[in-house]
Amino acid sequence: MPVVLPDAAGLHRAAELLRAGSVVAFPTETVYGLGAHAFSEKAVAEIYRLKNRPSWNPLIVHVPSVGEARRLAAVWPAVADDLAARFWPGPLTLVVRRAPHLTVAGAANDTIAIRVPAHDVALRLLEAAGLPLAAPSANRSEGLSPTTAEHVVRGLPDVPLVLDGGACRWGIESTVLDVTGDTPRLLRPGALSLRAIREVTGRVALPDEVADGAERPSPGMGKRHYAPRARLLLADEISQVERTFVLAEPVGLLALEGEPAQDTEILGADPEHYAADLYAALHRLDDRGVATIIVQRPPATEEWLAVHDRLNRAAAR
Ligand code: TXA
Ligand code: MG
Repeated sequence: MPVVLPDAAGLHRAAELLRAGSVVAFPTETVYGLGAHAFSEKAVAEIYRLKNRPSWNPLIVHVPSVGEARRLAAVWPAVADDLAARFWPGPLTLVVRRAPHLTVAGAANDTIAIRVPAHDVALRLLEAAGLPLAAPSANRSEGLSPTTAEHVVRGLPDVPLVLDGGACRWGIESTVLDVTGDTPRLLRPGALSLRAIREVTGRVALPDEVADGAERPSPGMGKRHYAPRARLLLADEISQVERTFVLAEPVGLLALEGEPAQDTEILGADPEHYAADLYAALHRLDDRGVATIIVQRPPATEEWLAVHDRLNRAAAR
């Protein structure tokens, strides 16, 4: 088994692998990442190969401190300092102009996405390896993101090593914010709420809907993503779907509230708690072999933005 505890021996082994140009899966406060030396072409190629990720989709670079982040940037705007002071380490990724001496796989323009993760194991790994780590979520491209070490191994059986840090606290990816322009622009809603960001930045521009394959500001925001194996259907009323569709069985349910039942996951009406268990619940339904998952659509309010984003993509075909 490639899963090891993040004790001194585990971290040492992970750091050696990373320095040798290999990849290691590690926990962050959002989801598990598949890490590699961010500026080694060979190491980054291994991430793309294992994930089967399209080469045009760039990676987030993880660093242990704001100081390290600044060294990767050509321009470090004042708003980046304000955001970093408030939210780093934490589930916010900043897109800034990239330092000219760096090349980043997948990034067609001159930007780089950076974050400082708020997870003790991630920070100790960054320190032990002494390298900036590119790390996408540790799953096959388009699949469900992993929030436990077990999810990683099941999705990526060929992964050389997984540091097991238990379940991720947020359970949903970081919020990605472009701060290269005058107004900060949301590229991907995520664990950190827009409300929290606006308290620091004032206005935040929201992403425009773009068709799959079209030119888009955040290349990774393809239409279909985060999808379980089962077919996922979103519905305001679960009974409504059962009446209008002929569904492949068995059918699983993902509900906000209700009575516990066979193949039913109840995630609650609090968006943070819901998000924290969303991927894990979809993994559980997949593991039970359901062919269809009907998801009760959460309220259409901004605090559910990241959850809606993931559910809509998981339902896209
Ligand atoms: O929470 C997270 O962010 C997790 C953990 C492991 O840190 N990582 C993660 O990485 O979700 P990934 O590769 O699954 O998603 C990265 C997102 C993609 O949507 C990608 O297109 C976008 O960030 N991105 C990366 N570099 C970018 C850049 N230079 N400009 C715009 N978008 C970028
Ligand atoms: Mg991902």
